[in-house]
Amino acid sequence: MIPLELRLVEDYESMSREAADLVADRLRREPEPVLLLPTGGTPLGMYRRLVELHEGGLSFSRATLFNLDEYIGLPPQHPSSYRAYMHRELYRHVDADPRRVHLPDGSAVDTEAEAARYEAEIEAAGGVDLCVLGIGRNGHIGFNEPGTPFDARTRPVRLDGSTRRANARDFGGEDAPEKAITVGPGTIFDAREVLLLASGEPKAAAVAAALEGRVTQDVPASALRGHPRFTLLADRAAGGGLSG
Ligand code: F6R
Repeated sequence: MIPLELRLVEDYESMSREAADLVADRLRREPEPVLLLPTGGTPLGMYRRLVELHEGGLSFSRATLFNLDEYIGLPPQHPSSYRAYMHRELYRHVDADPRRVHLPDGSAVDTEAEAARYEAEIEAAGGVDLCVLGIGRNGHIGFNEPGTPFDARTRPVRLDGSTRRANARDFGGEDAPEKAITVGPGTIFDAREVLLLASGEPKAAAVAAALEGRVTQDVPASALRGHPRFTLLADRAAGGGLSG
């Protein structure tokens, strides 16, 4: 088994700063970096820090920026869409080139075709240099719920009830939509580097299952254990129980 890099930090703030530094490093080093990015609660601090780094001179203008997922059935301008989230948390504050910003179109009529188009767009960009991920309490990555084959690519999916409830905070307390388009574990695994972020005690069991349990499609994040360049960056509450 390829050893993963485990970075345990004290708290959410340190995780966010370190994650932003790793992303910034890619942006500075790579002439035309391709990033695959998450939404949700976990990366908010990382985006805040990236905006600060941009104010200090960090440029996003040469980067090609993809997102992991988008809800199906929401128009792109819907405030709870992931397109709106990315605009609000990052893109409106930095110098990203709008022609290089990509998200699945959750309002597409033919969602299978839209997923295939998105997968082809990632391929046409030359694949992903750095994929940043959060983790669901059930071990999901992107919106790849337990049971997803490790080689699945970008496609429309149905969300678990637990995921829809966890994300109800973005929908005024109502469950999040039933379906989404997500980049698949196969696409994530093809990224040249993968950074998994985890913060808070509610994620501890999923982190332990992903890193120390069986490698199984019942825990989608366990797929990452075979990746040649995989870092888990976790705070003590989420990762402190790992044997290291
Ligand atoms: C979001 C995504 C999801 C989240 C996961 C954790 O784009 O792909 O896998 O990373 O649901 O969400 P938070 O960070 O809100 O706990």
